[in-house]
Amino acid sequence: MFETQICSELEYLFKLMDDQQGASFDPSIMIQRTVCNIISRVSVATSYEHGDKEFDKILHISDEIMALAGSAGFKRIVKILRLLPSKTNEALAKAMNKFMAIVDGHIHKRKTKYDMGTAECFIDVHTKKVHDSEDLGPHVNDETVAKTVASFFMAGIDTSSYQILWVVIYLLRHPQVMRKARNEIDEVVGRDRLPTMDDQTDMPFTQAIINECMRLCAPVPMGVMHTAAEDTTFMGYSIPKGTMFIANIWGVHNDPDTWKDPNKFDPTRFLDEHGQIVENEALIPFSAGKNLVIVLSKKALYHSYFPKKPYYLKKLFLKYSKWFYTFFKGF
Ligand code: HEM
Repeated sequence: MFETQICSELEYLFKLMDDQQGASFDPSIMIQRTVCNIISRVSVATSYEHGDKEFDKILHISDEIMALAGSAGFKRIVKILRLLPSKTNEALAKAMNKFMAIVDGHIHKRKTKYDMGTAECFIDVHTKKVHDSEDLGPHVNDETVAKTVASFFMAGIDTSSYQILWVVIYLLRHPQVMRKARNEIDEVVGRDRLPTMDDQTDMPFTQAIINECMRLCAPVPMGVMHTAAEDTTFMGYSIPKGTMFIANIWGVHNDPDTWKDPNKFDPTRFLDEHGQIVENEALIPFSAGKNLVIVLSKKALYHSYFPKKPYYLKKLFLKYSKWFYTFFKGF
């Protein structure tokens, strides 16, 4: 069902692009609106007309929150900055409240409409489970569900839109790669329908392009901050409870020990001699760890960034990596 919803949003996007009739245009806002609509459909079974005022308000608030969160995050690392007067946290809380009001409104509307039939979105699934008195554990309640939906929007819009835009940019700059991808798509999918997940394994070259764009332009280059919940040891390093952790995704994706010519755009690095996809555990655009992708080799993630330095330097590095995250987000 989700795939059908995604395809119908994409058909609309392509119609909008066709309507430009070959004139030059900036696709970024169209792509952002499409991604936002997909998330909205999957979470609360709602979609907007492109150009709808509330729709653009969501995108605007989400941009605002992302910008403010970067600066607020910086203060989590450079603690002394917290002593300086600042309106960032206040502005962030205000933007979050505005956003939560929109999300709460959608959830309420969906819950009222849903008749316990086939679930069409995340909220339907939750509503049905509550209706069937399923045990959802101590952490699932109306508030956490609303925050989860909000985080789908916050975490999903920019990441996915920018990732798609990077693919567009790289293909425009490498027309021979674009032609090869076009041929593969024509061969596997044809021109009368959109690709589906079932086609994925038959389209290794297209997959390799996506992998290479994710490697070069991971939208969350320093992941999100995590804190050690308890004293622990990792690869011989002792890490006290409370240590801030940042997965240096950018570093892993650009490590010359792992990738030949890491700065070069070369999708074929993900293909074997038969043109089939080769999995590379150092491709970690969705980060690493228990909650996401465990497969990453510990060496790739940490070795280059935990050289044999005293503990305080390592700790400093962990903390200040977030600065780089904020820095890269600005580009
Ligand atoms: C190209 C697309 C995307 C990339 C590369 C990406 C990458 C990431 C990364 C690296 C993290 C941090 C993981 C961590 O350190 O724990 C993250 C967190 C997250 N992502 Fe994505 N993501 C993408 C799309 C999405 C989409 C479409 C959604 C939702 C619909 C989403 C929802 C989330 C959520 C809810 C979190 C957790 C945020 C938190 O812990 O505060 N992401 N993502």
